[in-house]
Amino acid sequence: MPNPTEIGKGFNRLAFIYDFMVWLVFGNRMITLKKNFLAGLPKAESALIVGGGTGKILQLALDCNLATHVVYAELSEAMMAKTKQRLSDEHRSRITFCDDYSSQLSAKKYDYIILPFVLDCYRNRDIKPMLEQFSFALKTEGNIVVFDFNLNTEDGFKHRPWKVGFIKLLYHFFRFTASIPARRLPSFGRLFNESGYYKARTASISKGWIQATAWKRENRNTTSA
Ligand SMILES: C[S@@+](CC[C@H](N)C(=O)[O-])C[C@H]1O[C@@H](n2cnc3c(N)ncnc32)[C@H](O)[C@@H]1O
Repeated sequence: MPNPTEIGKGFNRLAFIYDFMVWLVFGNRMITLKKNFLAGLPKAESALIVGGGTGKILQLALDCNLATHVVYAELSEAMMAKTKQRLSDEHRSRITFCDDYSSQLSAKKYDYIILPFVLDCYRNRDIKPMLEQFSFALKTEGNIVVFDFNLNTEDGFKHRPWKVGFIKLLYHFFRFTASIPARRLPSFGRLFNESGYYKARTASISKGWIQATAWKRENRNTTSA
């Protein structure tokens, strides 16, 4: 597995400019997608957010009351500091903060595990064991919610060469600045399907380039006659 400390240090360098970079490319569309998608999910008891960056996603989850209690895992100290600045005392009392999510997987089961542009930092071979860990910590009817890029035309991406080129450029940039292990977008659909998940709900912007997906576990129980 990649070294979490290196990844955290890498994103420390980008924390001061990260939200501005996202806004430059997507304007308000990214935040609107996240806000509407989270608001459309049923309210629940517990959520784990992994790699929430500067904390906008946490604020959105709290604003729509997605979960009574949230565990917020973020490897970068600078991103975590920005997250904490956003929160009221009332909101803080509903959150457990940590850097490495794995310490929080055995204590309880979650209704939601939210992965906003974090799996794209990892290679397919890193994601497989991560999904196993998440499956263990997810309630039977729980959802893994993923916000990420999509280049798969079968999943609704309208192919544009500049969008494919942009992702390549992003990987060069993030490998150089943030030491992420991935070199290309992971095969999200295949990895989730192989781990026993199906798409329960999706939404997208930018003609399928950015997708929000709620993955649920297939119910493999069969009833005998
Ligand atoms: C590309 S940024 C995404 C930020 C934000 N979630 C967004 O949607 O724009 C990835 C973030 O995930 C964090 N991260 C990566 N791997 C992580 C892990 N295993 N546990 C916790 N945070 C992680 C990084 O520190 C970084 O802040």
